[in-house]
Amino acid sequence: MIDPNYREGDAKSEAFGQDAMLKPAPVEKIPDGPTTPQVAYQMVKDETYAQTQPRLNLATFVTTYMDDYATKLMNEAININYIDETEYPRVAVMCQKCINIMANLWNTPETNKWKTGALAIGSSEACMLGAIAAWKRWIERRKKAGKPYDKPNFVISAGYQVVWEKFATLWNIEMRQVPLSLEHTTLDVDAAIKMCDENTICVVAIEGVTWTGLNDDVEALDAAVDKYNAETGNELCIHIDAATGGFILPFLFPEKKWDFRLNNVLSISTSGHKFGLVYPGLGWVIWKDKKYLPADMAFTVDYLGAEVTQVGLNYSRPAAQILGQYYQFIRLGFEGYKNVQYNSLQIAKYLHGQIAAMPEFQPYSEEVPNPIVTWLMKPDVQKDAKWTLYDLQDKLAQKGWMVPAYAMPVNIENMVVMRVLCKQGFSRDMCDQLLNDIKSYVAELNQLEYPTPTRIAMEKNIPLPKKSFNHTGK
Ligand SMILES: Cc1ncc(COP(=O)(O)O)c(C=O)c1O
Repeated sequence: MIDPNYREGDAKSEAFGQDAMLKPAPVEKIPDGPTTPQVAYQMVKDETYAQTQPRLNLATFVTTYMDDYATKLMNEAININYIDETEYPRVAVMCQKCINIMANLWNTPETNKWKTGALAIGSSEACMLGAIAAWKRWIERRKKAGKPYDKPNFVISAGYQVVWEKFATLWNIEMRQVPLSLEHTTLDVDAAIKMCDENTICVVAIEGVTWTGLNDDVEALDAAVDKYNAETGNELCIHIDAATGGFILPFLFPEKKWDFRLNNVLSISTSGHKFGLVYPGLGWVIWKDKKYLPADMAFTVDYLGAEVTQVGLNYSRPAAQILGQYYQFIRLGFEGYKNVQYNSLQIAKYLHGQIAAMPEFQPYSEEVPNPIVTWLMKPDVQKDAKWTLYDLQDKLAQKGWMVPAYAMPVNIENMVVMRVLCKQGFSRDMCDQLLNDIKSYVAELNQLEYPTPTRIAMEKNIPLPKKSFNHTGK
């Protein structure tokens, strides 16, 4: 029943004193009538109140800090739909400028004024676009050769992010997984090439593997693909899923060849909302040249001499992220990005060293190529311990820290690791606070007399109760 005495903006008393605050929040049906904005705000705010503070969320790759000017710019553009290019043509041009900047950061050989790429809602859409283009190019080649094109596949390491499973399932393309092992902690290039055949649309290499933070060796893969193509006459190509590395490698390791400098790398995707330092959701995909973007994926608009090419799975999308990205490019410049990424990597290396010095733990890898630290319990410590990293995860959550523990993918699924993302906003001081909390909780857990439920489950090889989310995106 609508309150007959209701008047818009009416507030009989302070928000928490109003009748509406005694009613449960709607779960199934839209409420019968309106309520005051104060009450609506409070109810929505309270629903999310008990969550981890984004800055303490060390599980997420996604940007949790931008400065006040960036935040202001993005808030001011919150009502702009990117797709309305006719109404907001400058945003489309700004987007194309960002595409140019990304393409040049990745050493594109393309000489056109406007480089070939697309805006995406995140790496997931960007990965899909890169892979769909590879698939369509393959179909074109197969058609020309009069060969069947109904059994496409792609090859990727088992350290893939869930988007690749989605790509395989939604488009009905076989995903051939190269297992990770203790010897091959990233893509095993020989094994990958052995899985390729004339139906392989591309091999995907990952720069910044979600599970571990490591980089696949693209230079070795590229050389192997050269050899494979020469021997078979196939036109195997590489897509780089650089969700993380796309914004780390150009600034911190510019000499490392992983991008368009390599022969067979035809497309690269990244997340602007990860180390691109923009709030979600933003992704970029760039092709080495216009000829690698199938014409029927592109929608081209001419505006004031600029050729704006639209490619995407979604139609409407927010424009604010483009303003945020362009602001960051201007505000930080190459040097500024380098400084931010350098600090994140230094803090990651510091954390890596401190964790390695603890008697209970060992880092997953010696190297720290991205600001991501992954560690496990030393096997001989785990054997006698009454607890697991899952218990440490729960303890840390009591202080608001979100530090995920998870089992590794097939083949090394018995290994449980813990991971911290050291992003902009995770200061050295916060890192020390985290380390102190880790140390004191470990000391507490070491005092346990009886094993925890997760330890018993591990002992008996019982699958742990599944959480409703998983930090590797699987
Ligand atoms: C390697 C990799 N690819 C793709 C994705 C998906 O990225 P997004 O969340 O930007 O869609 C992620 C996310 O963590 C990732 O790490």
